[in-house]
Amino acid sequence: MRLKSIISWSDNMTVGVTHLDDEHKTMIDQISCLYAYRKNHTRDEVIQRISELIDHTILHFDNEEKYMKKIGYPDSDEHYQVHRDFLEKLTLIEDTLMSGQRTELSDNDLNSIARWLFNHILAEDRDYAIRPAHREAEAPVPC
Ligand SMILES: [Fe+2]
Ligand SMILES: [Fe+2]
Repeated sequence: MRLKSIISWSDNMTVGVTHLDDEHKTMIDQISCLYAYRKNHTRDEVIQRISELIDHTILHFDNEEKYMKKIGYPDSDEHYQVHRDFLEKLTLIEDTLMSGQRTELSDNDLNSIARWLFNHILAEDRDYAIRPAHREAEAPVPC
């Protein structure tokens, strides 16, 4: 039986930039795997998976921020701050698991991570995708 996924990709989530869409898909896969994985793995193994999610999130935010700079996106400072806040949230979850303050990754933790990513892609990320400079940057080179 296939497990119900906590978050999944849909085409309306595209930002129109292949590598950024691929990174979003990877984050979605990582969160979905964490959801299925945490029940039958040790705390150390779950921490390792969270650490991989954090590493990929850092890489993605860095690439996305470079892209926003490239197209001159006007609301980038607010967007960067939202990224920093999310990374802080992930790191706090990892820290409390590592220190033993938290013994497991709860449904609440995962729901809030998944909801944040879903809403962030559809709202803030898609906001840079609809800018004219974005369309020019991604337009195919004429023959
Ligand atoms: Fe973003
Ligand atoms: Fe993003």
